[in-house]
Amino acid sequence: MSEDHSPAGLARGLTNYGDRDFARYLRLSMARSMGYSEALLNKPVVGIASTYSEFNNCHRNVPELVAAVKRGVLAAGGLPLEFPTISLGEVFLNPTSLFFRNLMSMDTEEMIRGQPMDAVVLVGGCDKTVPAQLMGAVSAGLPTVQLVTGPMMTGRWRGERLGACTDCRRFWAKYRSGEIDNATIGEVEGNLATTTGTCAVMGTASTMASIAEALGILLPGTAAIPAVHADRLRAAEASGAAALALARAGITIRDIITEKSIENAIRVLLAIGGSTNGIVHLTAIAGRAGVDIDLKRLNELSDTTPVLVDLKPTGPYYMEDLHAAGGIGAVLRELKPLLHLDCMTVAGETLGERLAPAPAFVDRTVVKPLDAPLQPQGGLVALFGSLAPRGAILKRAAADPALFEREGRAVVFTSLEDLAARIDDPDLDVAPDDFLVLQNAGPRSASGMPESGYLPIPQKLARQGVKDMVRISDARMSGTAYGTIVLHVAPDAASGGPLGLVRNGDRIRLSVKAGTIDLLVDADELARRRRDQPPARPAPQRGYARLYYREVLQADQGCDFDFLRPVPVGE
Ligand code: FES
Repeated sequence: MSEDHSPAGLARGLTNYGDRDFARYLRLSMARSMGYSEALLNKPVVGIASTYSEFNNCHRNVPELVAAVKRGVLAAGGLPLEFPTISLGEVFLNPTSLFFRNLMSMDTEEMIRGQPMDAVVLVGGCDKTVPAQLMGAVSAGLPTVQLVTGPMMTGRWRGERLGACTDCRRFWAKYRSGEIDNATIGEVEGNLATTTGTCAVMGTASTMASIAEALGILLPGTAAIPAVHADRLRAAEASGAAALALARAGITIRDIITEKSIENAIRVLLAIGGSTNGIVHLTAIAGRAGVDIDLKRLNELSDTTPVLVDLKPTGPYYMEDLHAAGGIGAVLRELKPLLHLDCMTVAGETLGERLAPAPAFVDRTVVKPLDAPLQPQGGLVALFGSLAPRGAILKRAAADPALFEREGRAVVFTSLEDLAARIDDPDLDVAPDDFLVLQNAGPRSASGMPESGYLPIPQKLARQGVKDMVRISDARMSGTAYGTIVLHVAPDAASGGPLGLVRNGDRIRLSVKAGTIDLLVDADELARRRRDQPPARPAPQRGYARLYYREVLQADQGCDFDFLRPVPVGE
C-alpha cells in the first residue's frame, strides 16, 4: 500500500501561522461554530466533492446523493464534510465543456489537497465531470471513491421510447430532411430528457461511469443504477462508508488506478462500444498516474476484445436495461479471461474476488456472452497515416462497414462557421461518395474541440436519402452519435497538422482494415501550402483562455495540460 495516510481528521494540513497548536485550536474553534460536537470533530474526515449546479440538469439529484453519502460516513464513524467544486453541464457551456474539464480537475485536486480530509467521495456524472474529478483526485492521491449521479430513465412519446441523446439526433436528422415538422420536433423536445441523471444511452457519461467501475474506483454494481432508483441512494450511502474504510486501510486512489486497471478499463470501453470521448478522458486520467496509453496498444486490445453490449447509439437498449440485465458486473464477468484480476477496488477486494461469485441473473439480450459476441472486435480503432501522424479515432461499432475501405474526394470546411454557412447550400459541390473534412475544431482551436465531428449530411443529400458519409475532423463526437466518422486527428489543424493543409478536391484514402488514413497529395505541394498558410490565430492574452491555449496537449495525450502531468523523477 502507499505511504502513511493514517486518518488525521481536521488536524491534517494545518494552516501555516508558524504555530501548529494555535492553528489547530483556531481551526477547531471555527469548526465548532458549525454546531458539530467535539466528539464528531475528532473523527476521521471524509470530504464530499459536490457538483450541484442549476446549470447542470444531470446533477439535479446531487443534494440527495450527498445527504446519503453523509449518512454512510456518519454510520461508519467518520465526519462527512461537503465542499463545492466547479460543475460542468454539457450543453450549458461555451465554447465547450472540454475546454473547462482541466480547470475543474485543478479545482478538484487543489480542494482535496488544500482542505483537511482523510478520504474523498467524488459526486459527478455529466460527461466531463467524472474525468475531471478522477484526474484531479489521482493527482491529489488520497483514498477516493467515485459516485455517479446515474443515468436518466427513458421517456415515452406516441408509443416510442425516447432517451437523450441518440434519439435527439435521430429526430433532428428527420427534421432536417423534412420528414417531421416544427410542431412535432417541439413535442419530441419535451420528451427526450424526462428525469434527473445523465444521458440514457451509452454516451460519454455512461461510458465514463462504466470505465470508472472497471477501474475499481466506483463501488461494484453501481455504474448503471438509474438516477431515480432507490438503489442509487443506497450506493451513495455505501460509498461514504467505503471511503472511510479506505482511509483506515490506507488504500489510496493510486493503489487502484494503475497500469493494469487502466488496461481493464480500455477492455470495458471496447466491449461496451463506448464513446470515443472515453479514450481521450481515460488517456488524461492515466497520464496523471504516469501511464501513457499508446494508440497502437489500443488497436491490439481492440482486435482482441469483442463487443458484448448493444446500447444506443449502436443498438436498441438504454442504460436502465443494462442495469436490469446485470450491469457492468455482467460485462466484467464475460471479459474475465482478458482482465487483470489482481487489481484492487474501492470495495477493499480485488477484481478477481469481486467477480468470483456467480451472477444472480444476466439478461443475454443486452449483455452477450464472450463466445457469442455482437462483434468479434472492439468498438474503437486508431488510424494512422499522412493525414494523422499522431493518430485519429474511428468508432467502428457505430460506423457503416461499407465505407471502411475507400478513397474519396475531400469537401473541406475550414471552421465551424464555414460549416454552418455552407453545409446546406444547394450549390455545394458534394456527392455521396465524397469525404467531408472539417478543420480547426481541435483542442488548440478557438472552438475548444467541440463535439462537432458528427458533421451533418448536407441537406441536399439528406433529402435524397443519404444517411452516412465519411467525415474527418480534429473535433470530438458525442458518445450518443453514430456514423463513419474519423475524429481526434492529431496534430490538429490549429497546431499545424496536415489536416489544415487539405484542400477541396484532394484525394483521401481510408482503410479501417489497415488502420490507415492518408492524404494523397505529394510532399512538394504540401510544403507549398504550408508556406502559403495564413498565420495562426493570435493567442488569447489573458485569463484561463491564455493558460488553456499555452498548455493544452493533443488528443493522443488526453488534451490534458502539460504542467498537470506528473513531473518525471529526477527533474
Ligand atoms: Fe449530461 Fe448528457 S448532458 S450526460
